[in-house]
Parts: sequence; C-alpha cells; structure tokens
Amino acid sequence: MAEETIASVLVGETAGVLPLVCPPKPGDRLEDVDTPALILDLDAFEDNLRSMQALAESHGVALRPHGKAHKCPEIALQQVSLGACGICCQKVSEVVPFVQAGLTDILISNEVVGRQKLELLARLASRAKLTVCVDHPDALTALSAALDAQHSAVDVLVEVDIGQKRCGVQTHAQAVALADLAIRLPNVRFKGVQAYHGGVQHKRSFEQRQRAVLKGIRAAAGFVDALRRAGYACEVVTGGGTGSALFDAASGVFTELQPGSYAFMDGDYGAMEWGEVTALRHALFLWATVVSTPAPGRVVLDVGLKSTTAESGLPQVVGQPGLRCTALNDEHCIVAVDEPRASPALGEKLRLIPGHCDPTFNLHNEVVAVRKGVVEAVWPISARGLSR
Ligand SMILES: Cc1ncc(COP(=O)(O)O)c(C=O)c1O
Repeated sequence: MAEETIASVLVGETAGVLPLVCPPKPGDRLEDVDTPALILDLDAFEDNLRSMQALAESHGVALRPHGKAHKCPEIALQQVSLGACGICCQKVSEVVPFVQAGLTDILISNEVVGRQKLELLARLASRAKLTVCVDHPDALTALSAALDAQHSAVDVLVEVDIGQKRCGVQTHAQAVALADLAIRLPNVRFKGVQAYHGGVQHKRSFEQRQRAVLKGIRAAAGFVDALRRAGYACEVVTGGGTGSALFDAASGVFTELQPGSYAFMDGDYGAMEWGEVTALRHALFLWATVVSTPAPGRVVLDVGLKSTTAESGLPQVVGQPGLRCTALNDEHCIVAVDEPRASPALGEKLRLIPGHCDPTFNLHNEVVAVRKGVVEAVWPISARGLSR
C-alpha cells in the first residue's frame, strides 16, 4: 500500500475511533467517567479560590494566581472573576491560550531569552498587558529591541534572588543598574521587583516555614529599599506561593501574591502543617480503576507516570487508610492493601490525591469538573505541553 494510502487509512480510522473514547460530558455521574481522569471537586476548588482571594483582600494586596499550576484558561477566568488582578505564566508559549481565552493581564514570572520567544512575546504584547522578569542587562536590551520591531511595550520587573539561588540578581547594585537601564530603553517600563523563593514554600513545619519566609521577605525589602534610595520606587513587589502566602500578604513588603497550588492542594501541600490558619482543602483528584488484583495484599490501578508524577511523593488513596500506593510505573500504580477487608474489587474506581498538581495537569488533555458526584463541565487544559 502506498504511503499516502496508509496515512489516509490511519486518519480515517482515528476519526472513526475517537468518538468511542467516551469523553465525559456535563450531567454524567462520576462513577461513569472513564479512567484515568483528572477530577476537580468544584465545591472545594471554589472555596479555595475564595479563601486566598479573601486573604489577599484582607491585607490590601493583589492576587495574581499562577497559571502554570493548571494551564487551564477556564480556571484562570474563574480566578479573575473572583477578583484576581490577572495571572502569572512561566513560559511565553504558555501565555498564548490564556490570551486567546480573553485573559488581559499576564505576568511572565520568569526570564525570557532567545529570538523566537522574544518575537512571540512582542506579538502577544499588542494583544494583552504583559509584564516580564529580567535579571541581566543583555536580556533586557534584547527584549527592548524585539518589542521595538513589533511597536509593542511591556512592563518589566527586576527579579531579585532572596535565597532560592535560581534566577534573579544577586546584589542591590545589580538591581539598581537594571532599573537604570530599563528607564533608558524604549518599549520597557520599570515597575518593580519579583522576589520568589520556592524552597521555603514546602517546609513542613509551620514555624520553620514562617522563619524561612520572613528571612526572604527581609531580603526582598532590602532590594526594594535600595531601589527606592536610588530613585526607583517599586509600584509592584510580587512573589510568594501557597506555602508563604499567609506571611507575604501580611508583610507590608509585597503588593501582589502569586500562588498556584492553593486552588488544588496536592499531596505535598496537604501534608504540611498549616497551624489554624488555612481552610484550603484537596480539590484535585485522579480517578482510577482497579485493573488487577494479582495477589493478596496487592491491587493495581490504571494510573501511572503518564497520568501523574512522583517527584513530590506518590499519590494517596482517598478515604481508604488500608490502601497505600507503593510504586508508579508508566501506566500502573501498585497499591498495597494493609487491611485485607479494605481490598477493592476488580473494576472498582478509586480517587487519588496527586503528589504534585503542576506536572499532573500537564499530563492531561482536560480536567473534569464535578459537583456532588455529577460532572458539571469538562475544561480543556489548553496550555499543557507549552513549555517554550
Ligand atoms: C515564580 C513562581 N511563582 C509562584 C509559584 C507558585 O507556587 P505554588 O504552586 O507553590 O503556590 C511558583 C511555583 O513554582 C513559581 O515558580
């Protein structure tokens, strides 16, 4: 068979087979949703959105949730409709579906380096208000030139390293020099600083986390002060995540918070000590089927590394303390049955809490939004895979 014919047969077959995949639809019962699936419990999710929005508002700071956590424009639109000032993205290509969906105010909380990315950024800047982080004069100069070619402009934030040792200028003098350059270059407007410290977010103990976050906040305040003394007032001081939001909000230093995971509360965040201060709860689940019961004390689920990741811990089975995930293979999750009476039957469906929400979202085409056991909506995860 000629190559074109094989290709056309495959396309034809795919087109014929796709409807049989049974995508979930509004009105379906959760029990009938095929697995693996990514499930969002809308009641918990909406409560989480409202809690973080209320925290930000009670301290007079803006909330700019991180879109990299979910990569889903529908979710971002809900966050904005509840009062968020806009969203963050981590990559330029990730911005595209959010702009297409109508998001108008996006911070790329990251450095943008390279011709293709700068060209795309410059084109997007004429469709939405964009803010970009910089930590090197050459990157800032290249950004300005790319914007000039498209007659567009962006706000810029100097990213400062407050202890994470990832991106960001290291000294006050470097921060002032970048602000100086931004003021002189066309198409870029200096707005302030980004100060993010991922390492402190996940400290389990409330006290240790508080101490580490406050140290970072003091470092951020030092940068802001140095800029102010050099004549550059920071209109925006943005940063923080789910683990630090409580302290960042009350700091008097940050004007804006950028948490992402708070809306979902994955296994890693769920295992942290929160004191008495949070009402955030698990809202994101993997929906899995028992596909094998090969031996006493062990069952196997159809959720593997292609549906979730393990770098922040294995998934946890919801509401069944006798069941413990012990390994993830490509397409399998091995579950130890510690309590023989808890052993699920072949074909039974289970809910799991993923260890880490961001990379889990990135593995799914859609998230199934469920309320009280009934599918309410199915939202495309349009920015999945967009990591350039
Ligand atoms: C720059 C930046 N801001 C905000 C966040 C959001 O953090 P979280 O999902 O822990 O709330 C991250 C996460 O890695 C990040 O890299």
